[in-house]
Amino acid sequence: MIILVVGGGAREHALARAFHLDPAVTAIHAAPGNPGIGRIAELHSVDPMDGSAVAALATEVGANLVVVGPEAPLVAGVADAVRAAGIPCFGPSAQAAMLEGSKAFAKEVMDAAGVPTAASRVCTSQSELGTALREFGAPHVVKDDGLAAGKGVVVTSDRDEALAHGDAILAAGGTVVVEDYLDGPEVSLFCLCDGTTVVPLKPAQDFKRAYDGDQGLNTGGMGAYTPLPWAPATLEQEVVRTVAQPTVDEMARRGTPFQGVLYVGLALTSKGTRVVEFNARFGDPETQAVLARLETPLAGVLLAAAQGSLGELPTLKWSDDSAVTVVIAAHGYPGEVRSGDTITGIDEAEAEPGVHVLHAGTSTDGAGSLVASGGRVLSVVGKGENLAQARDRAYAGIAHIGLAGSHHRTDIALNAANVVTD
Ligand code: GLY
Repeated sequence: MIILVVGGGAREHALARAFHLDPAVTAIHAAPGNPGIGRIAELHSVDPMDGSAVAALATEVGANLVVVGPEAPLVAGVADAVRAAGIPCFGPSAQAAMLEGSKAFAKEVMDAAGVPTAASRVCTSQSELGTALREFGAPHVVKDDGLAAGKGVVVTSDRDEALAHGDAILAAGGTVVVEDYLDGPEVSLFCLCDGTTVVPLKPAQDFKRAYDGDQGLNTGGMGAYTPLPWAPATLEQEVVRTVAQPTVDEMARRGTPFQGVLYVGLALTSKGTRVVEFNARFGDPETQAVLARLETPLAGVLLAAAQGSLGELPTLKWSDDSAVTVVIAAHGYPGEVRSGDTITGIDEAEAEPGVHVLHAGTSTDGAGSLVASGGRVLSVVGKGENLAQARDRAYAGIAHIGLAGSHHRTDIALNAANVVTD
């Protein structure tokens, strides 16, 4: 099988690595990929937002499956363009990707499908914003309705900060969604969907704040781990029954079936499991940890989702091991990022047992050296018999990486590694 991966972050590197380990895969192409993906795939400088160009590349390389990683190309209709060229594509149509592209739309679908989520108000003026903030009270949850590259959500007890975020969205011509705050730990569950059938992967937890102890600004995610020893054993089944299947059924009923991965962001609240958000693609960095435990070869699974035959797949096989991903971020992230610093030590990190390193914001400079070129630069993944060992391994790998001014959290999976299970 020949696969084209669209995107160039650590999530796409994790997908490409899984394809590289799949005996059914004969060639991997990436558009545009990154230097890490380039070690296992052929890279093409094709704009991932250009559906016609991606479809033409897929035809040219004889792809049997195209996998679109990031949300922006999905919302822009890249999966539609690939399917229109007659090539199976893992990723929702532009219409179905609106589950991520508009938070107000996602809420409307959840409401119609009876999916448990926070109460919310859609605001298009400052007066509606003020009323909604008063109605729900602190902590305030203020979201940009549209895609905002991980910067759309502010959760704060400071009303002025909440108002300022909402005002900035309105001033830019956007729409604001204000929600009731959900207490309780958050979980990410990826549900593979083929338009009718839902197959859940294993739950993971992401660390969204920049610094240890959940301090600092929100980021795209600074680390993740799986499994979750503290979560109910029935979580996946419950979420499929109460969230993913009703949502997929509702999307099919509307004539916009959802094919791809429905990323269900959940809060396990004191009142029960509630949806925090939907995304229409794999999460980053959770995917780096989740795929490290998947033993079933990935290509056939995603092809089945793309072709509407998930229901015929045997049950997925999972390693009992744990996996921990720690993100190394560039100087300044999540603010103004400094690019061009040299990265060293990846080979030494990967010589540690159970460690692999995935590239995100990396490129090669004129002299051929690997340098940082984005906010989240690398994901270091440790796999071990339990979370404590996986964590130790990830941090042993990190100790080898050199990148001036970089930072990473030191508490990824720390509390979970101390949870005692029966
Ligand atoms: N880890 C959060 C996200 O992928 O949106």
